[in-house]
Amino acid sequence: NLKQLIDTLERDQKLSSEEYALLIESRSAELSEYLFEKARRIREQHYGTDVYLRGLIEFTNYCKNDCYYCGIRRSNKNAARYRLTKEQILFCCEEGYRLGFRTFVLQGGEDGHFSDTVLIEIIRAIKSRFPDCAITLSIGERTAESYRAYYEAGAERYLLRHETADPDHYSKLHPESMTLASRKQCLWELKQIGYQVGCGFMVGSPGQTTAHLASDLIFLQELQPQMVGIGPFIPHHDTPFAKEPSGTAELTLFLLGLIRLMLPAVLLPATTALGTIDPMGREKGILAGGNVVMPNLSPRDVRDKYLLYDNKICTGDEAAECRHCIEGRMNRVGYQVVVARGDSKLINQES
Ligand code: SAM
Ligand code: FES
Repeated sequence: NLKQLIDTLERDQKLSSEEYALLIESRSAELSEYLFEKARRIREQHYGTDVYLRGLIEFTNYCKNDCYYCGIRRSNKNAARYRLTKEQILFCCEEGYRLGFRTFVLQGGEDGHFSDTVLIEIIRAIKSRFPDCAITLSIGERTAESYRAYYEAGAERYLLRHETADPDHYSKLHPESMTLASRKQCLWELKQIGYQVGCGFMVGSPGQTTAHLASDLIFLQELQPQMVGIGPFIPHHDTPFAKEPSGTAELTLFLLGLIRLMLPAVLLPATTALGTIDPMGREKGILAGGNVVMPNLSPRDVRDKYLLYDNKICTGDEAAECRHCIEGRMNRVGYQVVVARGDSKLINQES
C-alpha cells in the first residue's frame, strides 16, 4: 500500500531504493496530495510558515567545464561572457541587504580568474560589511584546501549539486573530465570542514530513469545534507541537449515532498527552474514542503547572460521587483518571507 510506504518514510526517515522507485512509478494526484499534506505539516513543525530568502548573485558565467545540459558550458561560443568585480558584488549585497536579504549566494561557472586570493578577498569584504549575513558559495569543484580557506574567510554554506548519483548516468551528462566520484568527494570534504552543505539534482535530465532517481534519494539519505536543490531539467538551445524534453513540475513536486519527509529539517528551495516551467511553480514548491526561495540579485545588465536554460524567468526584473513579487506570491498561499539568515536547524554532525 503506497500511503503506508509514505507513512513509513515519515516515521523512519528512510526507505529502500526499491520502495522509492515504487512510490515514484505508482504516484497519482491523490497520493501526491497525501504526501504534500504531510510534508507541509513537518515543514511547519520545524520552520512554521516562514520562507527564507537567499539573494542569488551570479558573479561569473565563464566556465571551464562542458556539462552537456548547461547553457554556460565552455563550448557555447554564443554565450556572452561576463565577470562582476568585487565592487559590483558588494553593490548587489548592499541592495540585497536593504531589501531584507541576510544570505548571499555567490554562484558562478568554474572560473579560474577567481583564484583563492581573489575569492577570499571578496568573502572577507562581504563579511566585514555585513557581519549579520551568511555567505553561500556555489562555484563547483575545488580542492579541500581551497574549501577550507573560504570557510575560514567566512563562507559557511556550500551548494554543489551531485546532478545524478548513478555513475553511468553521470557520464551521459558530462564529458570524461568530470566524474561522480570527485563530485561526491567534494561534498564529503565540504561537510567535514563544517559547511552547511547542499547537494541536489535535475529532474527529468536526459536518460534519467526511476532507478536513477531512487539512487539520488538514497544518496541524500547517506549524505544527510542541510540543503537540497532540485529543479526540472530545461533544455538550452545552444547545448547538445537542445532537443531533449524538459522535466515536469509534477515529478519535481512529488520528489520535494519525499525529500521533506526524509530530511525533516532540510532547507529546500522552490527553484527558479520550477518557476520557469510552471508559472505557479514556486508557490507549488512551497506547498509541497519547500521553505526557501532564491530571488536574483545580479545586476540587470548581466541577467540574460547567465542563461543555464531557455526562457529563464526574472531576467528582465530589478532585484526589488523580484523581492516584492516573491513576497506577494508567498503571502497568497499562506506563507511569509522573513528577514533572517535562515540557518539549518540540523547540526552538522561532522564539524
Ligand atoms: N558551477 C557551479 C556548479 O557546478 O555547482 C554552479 C553553477 S551551475 C550552472 C548550477 C546548477 O544549474 C547546476 O548544478 C545544474 O543542476 C543547474 N543547471 C544547469 N543547466 C541546467 C538546465 N539546462 N536545466 C536545469 N538546471 C540546470
Ligand atoms: Fe522575479 Fe517574480 S521573482 S519577477
